[in-house]
Amino acid sequence: MSVHIEAKKGEIAESVLLPGDPMRAKWIAETFLKDAMLYNDVRGMLGYTGTYKGKRISVQGTGMGIPSALIYCHELINDYGVKKLIRVGSAGSYQPDIKLRDIVIAMAASTTSGINNSRFINADYSPTANFDLFMKAAQYAKSNNISIKAGNVLSSDEFYEDNFDSYKKWAEFGVLCVEMEAAGLYTLAAKYNVQALAILTVSDSLVSGERTSADERESTFSTMVDIALNTLN
Ligand code: ADE
Repeated sequence: MSVHIEAKKGEIAESVLLPGDPMRAKWIAETFLKDAMLYNDVRGMLGYTGTYKGKRISVQGTGMGIPSALIYCHELINDYGVKKLIRVGSAGSYQPDIKLRDIVIAMAASTTSGINNSRFINADYSPTANFDLFMKAAQYAKSNNISIKAGNVLSSDEFYEDNFDSYKKWAEFGVLCVEMEAAGLYTLAAKYNVQALAILTVSDSLVSGERTSADERESTFSTMVDIALNTLN
């Protein structure tokens, strides 16, 4: 086992879906995977391995925010040999034309996190999606008539900001929506030469103030998970 994951070697697949919420991991495993087995419940951060269309796939909850997510991603990559990681999560829209329930694929992730400040002194690193995973996801969506948006997202360190209007600066520079993990995932994946992608479903809008209900979140989550699983397949 690693520090935060109690799976034995070989129990985690090379391809992993990463929801923030561990209960989403359980729901994904029970809804989409065949023969899913629980390999982790340390700190309630549930992780399962099963098969999808015959291919072994794991799903691991990461918690919220870059610090929590990177603990799990680091151990998945370095202790369990994971090669492909797809975050499936929710996001808040920054643009009037990014509506509730829209699916956004993060081509790049700007951030308010300091994770790269000490790595790249006086310079900014651009965390970007893996091109192969990105193309596969976009092509799968297109051939199944699933509409997606793609572009730069913000991985914020704060859900509750002092200054609500601060989102407008990011919006002005084309950032589509806000979430809390992608920039960390993309940076770590680059460092360890593995593939990563973040697929997001819009659950709320900072532009309109609207928010989806829990039921709506579940149904829209399914489409995103379908894209992610078929991208890994
Ligand atoms: N995830 C979903 N909505 C969000 C928001 N408004 N801010 C940060 N992360 C989010």
